[in-house]
Amino acid sequence: MGVARATSTAPEDGAMGDAGEGAGAPAGTLDGAMLRRALGGFATGVTVTTALGPDGRPAGFTANSFTSVSLEPPLVLVCLGRGAASYPVFAQADGFAVNVLSADQQEVARVFATRGADKFASVAWGPRETGAPVFRGVAAWFDCRMRERIDAGDHVIVIGEVIGFGRAAAAPLLYCGGRFAALDSGVRLSVVARAGDAILTREDGRGLRLPTAAAFGPADDPASLSGLIARWCEGAGRPTPLHSFDEPDGAHRVVYAVDADALRPSGPSWRATPVAGAADAMACPLEVEAVRAALSRAVRHRS
Ligand SMILES: Cc1cc2nc3c(=O)[nH]c(=O)nc-3n(C[C@H](O)[C@H](O)[C@H](O)COP(=O)(O)O)c2cc1C
Repeated sequence: MGVARATSTAPEDGAMGDAGEGAGAPAGTLDGAMLRRALGGFATGVTVTTALGPDGRPAGFTANSFTSVSLEPPLVLVCLGRGAASYPVFAQADGFAVNVLSADQQEVARVFATRGADKFASVAWGPRETGAPVFRGVAAWFDCRMRERIDAGDHVIVIGEVIGFGRAAAAPLLYCGGRFAALDSGVRLSVVARAGDAILTREDGRGLRLPTAAAFGPADDPASLSGLIARWCEGAGRPTPLHSFDEPDGAHRVVYAVDADALRPSGPSWRATPVAGAADAMACPLEVEAVRAALSRAVRHRS
C-alpha cells in the first residue's frame, strides 16, 4: 500500500463561510488578516519613495508596492495609503523619487516605515532634478515626474514618468512574509584598486567601503567586480586574490588587489581615497585589515 505524503502546505482559505475561522461574518466576505498574510507571500524588493513638500521639507515612506509599468514611455507606480503622514505631500508633488534599497539598508526601511520618525536625519541624501531626495548607497534610484494619481480604495496609485535613474553594484534588500531578506550567493568579492597614492572607495552613507560585487565578471556588466574596475579604473591589470574572511552574517568575502594607471571616480559615492590613512578610514573593521594587507603587499612588491 502506498504512503500518502503532503507535498505542499495546505493553503489557508480566506473566503469565509458560516463555519471555521471567522464564523459569523457574512458568507463570501474576506478575512482581512488572512488576506494580508496571503499578500505578504509575494516577495518584493523594498523602496523608500520620496518627494519634496511645498514648504521645501522632504517626505518619504517605505514602499514595496513599486512596480514598473511601461518602458515607452518609461512609467513606474507606487501605491500610498491615504492615512500616511506623507500623503498630503504626494497628493500635491510634481515629482517623486524611488530609492531601491540595498541589502544593508534594512534600518533605513524601518525608519521610513515609522510614522513620526525623524526620517531624513538617518540617511545621506541629495535632491535630484524633481527635488525629490535620492539616498546614498541605494541599489537603484528613479527620479520621476508626476504623471497621474489614481484613487484606489484606501490607497492612491501615483504614476511617474522616469526622467533620471541610476544603478549601483549593491545587492537589493528583499521583503517577504513580513521579514526582510537578502538575495545572497554567500560570496562577496571586493577589490583594493590602487593607482599611485590613492585607492578606489565607495561612500555608502555610513563610511567608506571597498568596491564590492556578487560576481567576478563579465567586464561589461557594471554590477560585477570586473565591471566596477573597468568603469572606475584606467589601465587596470588583472585582479589577484589577496585576502579572504567570513562576514558576521555568514557570507564569505574574497578581497582582490589590482594596480591601475589612474582612478576615475565620479558621482556622489565613488572616491579616490589617499593611501595614507585609507585603511583606518574604512567603515568595516574587516575591510580595514584587507586594505592594510593589500597596501603592505604593494610595499613589499616595490622594495
Ligand atoms: C516593507 C514595507 C513595505 C511597505 N509598503 C508600503 C506601500 O507600498 N505603500 C504604503 O502606503 N505603505 C507601505 N508601507 C507602510 C509605510 O511605510 C508606513 O505606513 C509608514 O508609516 C508611512 O510613513 P508616513 O506615515 O510617515 O508617511 C510599507 C512598510 C514596510 C515595512
